[in-house]
Amino acid sequence: MKEYVWRPMYVVVLIAALSLAVRFFLLPHDFGVHEGGYKYGYYRLGNIAEWESRPALFRSADDCGDCHRQSESLSASPHAFISCQNCHGPAAGHPEDPPTLAIDTGRDLCLRCHADLSYPAGGRDAVPGIDPLGHHPFRSCVGCHDPHHPRQEVQP
Ligand code: HEC
Ligand code: HEC
Ligand code: HEC
Ligand code: HEC
Repeated sequence: MKEYVWRPMYVVVLIAALSLAVRFFLLPHDFGVHEGGYKYGYYRLGNIAEWESRPALFRSADDCGDCHRQSESLSASPHAFISCQNCHGPAAGHPEDPPTLAIDTGRDLCLRCHADLSYPAGGRDAVPGIDPLGHHPFRSCVGCHDPHHPRQEVQP
């Protein structure tokens, strides 16, 4: 082949070799083809162990009722299906560490489920909704509704 055909080919080969070299040095060595397929192995193998070594934040069983009377009223209310930790945050280790849990009295805690959505699809319309701007704006929901027994008589 003529020299002028080869010259640009050298550049292409050089670029390909350079990218392979850069890939070799930049990619962690356990990144790559696990589980025999490219798509499903596209991660660092060591990352599995890293996640496994992270301490769990939530506890699996809501044994909160051993110490807190709130579980009694909660389980008799429409909120019975909501885990305590859904509203009070991760509780693994509690009451040793953390010795106490967060109490959030903000409207957003409730509105993430109760804000009325204009589109009813997805089962969200099964949750009784209110208009956040029209339903007693700027006041704390739990000033009137008991979060552990929301269908009880509402305080005025
Ligand atoms: C072994 C007993 C025990 C268990 C089990 C337990 N707690 Fe507690 N909890 C305590 C103690 C002790 C405190 C600190 C004293 C206090 O404020 O009541 C506390 C504080 C709290 C507070 C803050 C109360 C306040 O008035 O500031 C919340 C909320 C709470 N716990 C929720 C939970 C939840 C949710 C669970 C289950 C995931 C749970 N607790 C499991 C003993 C326990
Ligand atoms: C729907 C959200 C929600 C769920 C579910 C929930 N809580 Fe609460 N909890 C709150 C809010 C909000 C307050 C603050 C109430 C207030 O200040 O009037 C609170 C207050 C508390 C307190 C402080 C004392 C009191 O009654 O004000 C404790 C203890 C507590 N919750 C424990 C629990 C336990 C145990 C469970 C599960 C059995 C649970 N909570 C489930 C939202 C929730
Ligand atoms: C995880 C979603 C979720 C969160 C968070 C939540 N709720 Fe609810 N709530 C529900 C569902 C679902 C129902 C209806 C259950 C049923 O009717 O079977 C309900 C029922 C109620 C009801 C009774 C409505 C009626 O039909 O009479 C009130 C009042 C209420 N919630 C207030 C609150 C308040 C106040 C908070 C915040 C402290 C809150 N909810 C947080 C899901 C949630
Ligand atoms: C000033 C007291 C007060 C405050 C604050 C308040 N509510 Fe209510 N809520 C009521 C009363 C009274 C009713 C029953 C009459 C009605 O539907 O308006 C009610 C009804 C509801 C219902 C039932 C609606 C239905 O269609 O069945 C839900 C859900 C609710 N409130 C959630 C909330 C949430 C979430 C907040 C905070 C963002 C909140 N409320 C703040 C007094 C209050």
